[in-house]
Amino acid sequence: MTALLDDPLDAAALLRAGALVAFATETVYGLGADARNGKAVAAIFEAKGRPHFNPLICHFPDAESAWAEVRADARARALAAAFWPGPLTLVLPRRADCRIDLLAGAGLDTLAVRVPAHEGALALLRAAATPIAAPSANRSGRVSPTSAAHVMQELSGRIAAILEGGECAVGVESTVLDLARGGAALLRPGGVPVEAIEAVIGPVGRPLPLHAGAAPTLRSPGMMLSHYAPSLPLRLEAQSVAPDEALLAFGAPLPGAALSYQLSEGRDLREAASRLFAGLRALDQPGLAGIAAMPVPGDGLGPAIRDRLARAAEPRK
Ligand code: TXA
Ligand code: MG
Repeated sequence: MTALLDDPLDAAALLRAGALVAFATETVYGLGADARNGKAVAAIFEAKGRPHFNPLICHFPDAESAWAEVRADARARALAAAFWPGPLTLVLPRRADCRIDLLAGAGLDTLAVRVPAHEGALALLRAAATPIAAPSANRSGRVSPTSAAHVMQELSGRIAAILEGGECAVGVESTVLDLARGGAALLRPGGVPVEAIEAVIGPVGRPLPLHAGAAPTLRSPGMMLSHYAPSLPLRLEAQSVAPDEALLAFGAPLPGAALSYQLSEGRDLREAASRLFAGLRALDQPGLAGIAAMPVPGDGLGPAIRDRLARAAEPRK
């Protein structure tokens, strides 16, 4: 049985005891474990069916507690001052005395850290008084959850509890930025647009565009091509829609779909990001031939939305 909790103190007590607790952040729901407890961290991989080479993000209540585990240079500190709490994850070198379980970082000498902008998450982090390792609270390869009900659909019976935290305001995962190897490299577009990061630290290296046959690298182990996948095939950049297709609309909807979900009537990318994963879930209905997604522009949160759609469109292996 998976309990639905309202009180961060109850959730913190479970985490301290080594249990898995899902909780809301401003981006998506995370599946949390005490990041210093190796058994609890291992249980995350098991509950999600996640490959062990894919490292987890560690969450902290404030930047100072993150800097106790990783080495922050001036750029990391400037970015934390600008965007934390918020949807930015920094990959930094582990300190020699880092107390985070090695499995959480998949054995790498770097660690991904962030401070989420969500009152419930921050209350949980403060009450637990330990860093919380948390990937998105979905089964590996599936659409990320943006409500407690989504988490129940994904993980009911596999985890101890869910801390109710409402619907996630941002709706796509954090931007992941690698600062551990000299330069600055974007590993995953997300809730903080890369232009906003460049305004603080200067040029950031962009990932190569998605291409078939791309393999996850050690630098960016989680960027597997097929990810965030609904059961139905997804067709990108749709200019028309068939009567047996569902439509993921952005702006004035294409006519004739069997079922449709509006990301943002007024073509607002923030609104579209916040509704993206709920939309993919709502359209993933039996009896349909597929989902047709209308084009989304490439500015602001557009790259994060397009990245998730491109991965969702990849056939599952
Ligand atoms: O918004 C988010 O980031 C959410 C919430 C719960 O915080 N979390 C999330 O976690 O999306 P997850 O596990 O689904 O994605 C983490 C990404 C993966 O692509 C992983 O490979 C990458 O971060 N990552 C984690 N640690 C890393 C490291 N040391 N080096 C390179 N990439 C890393
Ligand atoms: Mg994920």
